[in-house]
Amino acid sequence: MLSTSSEIGVIGSGAMGLGIAQTASAAGHKVRLYDNNADALLKAKNTLQSGFSKLVEKQKLSEASAKTQFENITFENDLSKFKNCDLIIEAIVENLQVKKSVFQELEKIVSTECVLASNTSSLSITSISSACKKAGRVIGIHFFNPATLMPLVEIIPGLATEKHVIDSSRKLIDGWKKVTVLAKDTPGFIVNRVARPYYSEALRIYEEGIADMASIDHAMKNLGGFKMGPFELMDMIGHDVNYIVTETVWTQFYFDPKFKPSISQKRLLEGGFLGRKSGKGFYEYSKEFTLPPSTADEETSKLIFMRILCMLINEAADTLYLKIAGREDIDLAMTKGVNYPKGLLKWADEIGIEKVVRELNTLKEFYEEDRYRISPILKQMLVSNKRFWG
Ligand code: NAI
Repeated sequence: MLSTSSEIGVIGSGAMGLGIAQTASAAGHKVRLYDNNADALLKAKNTLQSGFSKLVEKQKLSEASAKTQFENITFENDLSKFKNCDLIIEAIVENLQVKKSVFQELEKIVSTECVLASNTSSLSITSISSACKKAGRVIGIHFFNPATLMPLVEIIPGLATEKHVIDSSRKLIDGWKKVTVLAKDTPGFIVNRVARPYYSEALRIYEEGIADMASIDHAMKNLGGFKMGPFELMDMIGHDVNYIVTETVWTQFYFDPKFKPSISQKRLLEGGFLGRKSGKGFYEYSKEFTLPPSTADEETSKLIFMRILCMLINEAADTLYLKIAGREDIDLAMTKGVNYPKGLLKWADEIGIEKVVRELNTLKEFYEEDRYRISPILKQMLVSNKRFWG
């Protein structure tokens, strides 16, 4: 049974592992952080130390709390130190074979009660768990970047995961001041699946020459209230991450055209134009970068916004239809995991299901592509005059 006094292990001290360790430590746990790369572990220790100093300087944390939280974390280069851990969260390289062998290694060290979790964004939890003798203890606990700040955590049981593991993991992470949602073990879980059209439909609109990138970004921000437009956001996430997530989701869904990646984005990746981190992506970044003004008229901006929003709603609806997650969790995931201004299912109710279906029908009839097929649940709701939120 996991509790506030549980000892937490984190494997992998990169961006995610360090953030998860810090989150657990802030919640009062004793945390062991391991990395098989000594330089990475040292870097994590230094990053954490300077991060705490900054928080103290900015008076966001008292010196005493910073000291306790720092001391709660021990930096380990020997996995045997994890033998008393109650929960271990793995955040290493996104490679199924490597993850499986780490889980097998851990099983030799820990007690039979220790819960083994993966922070994977795109691999199957069931597949990772199949490497374990006790697959029932394996679960997905998926944080968002940066883990210390983003409230959402997706909880993903594999086929074998025991119910008490699901319940106690969720309860524990809720206690870390996070918002947890439950998702079926399917590609992209909730957020990385439902958010795909935000990028792919924007790219399609741009590739067709309907509008330039800045006009699309402005339409989504001004008319939709999104904090960042799709192109700004892809540049910020980095094309090495964002493109790969799209390609992985597409591949894992047996090349469903709904999730097809974009050649324009692939070329950026191939050219090393990774976005903000490399100084150039869709936009070129100088210190004074500001988004160029929109060149689209009001009618085009509205069309862009409705097209992308309805494609997002369609994916959220399909996620509900296919029972990947419940209504509450789908809406929470998008507001807490990627800062959408509203839950997509609530948004559908506001616009009206009839209008959403009409928009999607127009796209489907014009393009005659499977990419624009309408989720059956939207059609059912239209016939029975239902709303997502009653
Ligand atoms: P990262 O590359 O920053 O860190 C990975 C760390 O794991 C490195 O320090 C590396 O030395 C270490 N490592 C690799 N193989 C190891 C092994 N066999 N044993 C111990 N340590 C090992 O990666 P990042 O971004 O922190 O991602 C980690 C995991 O979290 C991946 O599964 C990724 O899909 C997932 N994730 C990433 C997010 C992101 O935005 N970066 C968001 C949510 C999940």
